[in-house]
Amino acid sequence: MWRYKSVLPDGTPVSLGEGWTPMLRSRRHPHAYLKEEGANPTGSFKARGMAMAVTMARHYGLKKLAAPSAGNAAGALAAYAAAAGIEAHIFMPKDVPFANYLEAVLYGANVTLVDGLISDCGRIVAERKDKEGWFDVSTLKEPFRVEGKKTMGYELVEQLGWGYPEAVFYPTGGGVGLIGMWKAFAEMEELGWVKPGKRPRMIAVQSAGCAPVVKAFEQHAKVSEMWKDAATFAAGLRVPKPYGDYIMMEILQESGGVAVAIPDEQILASLKDWAQNEGVFLCPEGAAATAAYDHLLSTSYLKPEDRVVLFNTGSGLKYTDITAEAAGIQRPG
Ligand SMILES: Cc1ncc(COP(=O)(O)O)c(C=O)c1O
Repeated sequence: MWRYKSVLPDGTPVSLGEGWTPMLRSRRHPHAYLKEEGANPTGSFKARGMAMAVTMARHYGLKKLAAPSAGNAAGALAAYAAAAGIEAHIFMPKDVPFANYLEAVLYGANVTLVDGLISDCGRIVAERKDKEGWFDVSTLKEPFRVEGKKTMGYELVEQLGWGYPEAVFYPTGGGVGLIGMWKAFAEMEELGWVKPGKRPRMIAVQSAGCAPVVKAFEQHAKVSEMWKDAATFAAGLRVPKPYGDYIMMEILQESGGVAVAIPDEQILASLKDWAQNEGVFLCPEGAAATAAYDHLLSTSYLKPEDRVVLFNTGSGLKYTDITAEAAGIQRPG
């Protein structure tokens, strides 16, 4: 992602090879492109934000970072902190995908599993950070993760030949990627890097088991309400009250986009569909995006000839326990 260094905050990169991920054309939908973020270090797009945040943390001489995480941000923070020689203190729900727990522990982070959701983890970090001397790298509470994630916007435009798609499907939890990409589009227009034209419709995709952004969008509200009893196997979408909800609402409106909630059964069906017909093992969050694409084709919101980008935000291989359980698959014997 450091090919975009000239538009990124100035620090010596702590890099593990993040960014410039494949843009795969669907075999069945010639105008649909899958942005394969599972190809990043630590197997998810969270690498981009954490590479940038840890780069700047090292630049400013910070020694102890802390974050709540739905799972993948934990693995990414732990890896980049290890590479930078910085302490990482991580709080995650106790039922995160096992891979997220394992990687964070192996990278040497201090990991606490919490009986609650990411919002509870965030509260613990906020309560303890001053006493412990931690710098809080929670989503949108520091300025740099969004800068790393904005490179997804630069990249998709460059990979499409410096042009916008009609729509971008983004599995939305905290919404940092959505916010970052929208910022990237504005910057590219200002720099003259993209031909002026209609910006993509931004499609925020959530699980029906935790859809605060969709509810707020449907009610034309400016902010979301805390979603009760959030439950979905798409672990990264289990964010009951995103901190940057009001920014997302503005982007959805300005882009002429929508917010869509997909039931977990449809997410699983799309995950199997892409595995069997495209050869791609999506993460559940990515499968929410592919399912949302099918849904918006069926309602004629989009036409098959509209060029779209679907974000597979992580590798399906990080979710073997959770996806096996959802699909009822066990090793024989
Ligand atoms: C694989 C995956 N997709 C999507 C999300 C949601 O990302 P954001 O918080 O940027 O909306 C997460 C967050 O943990 C994730 O791990």
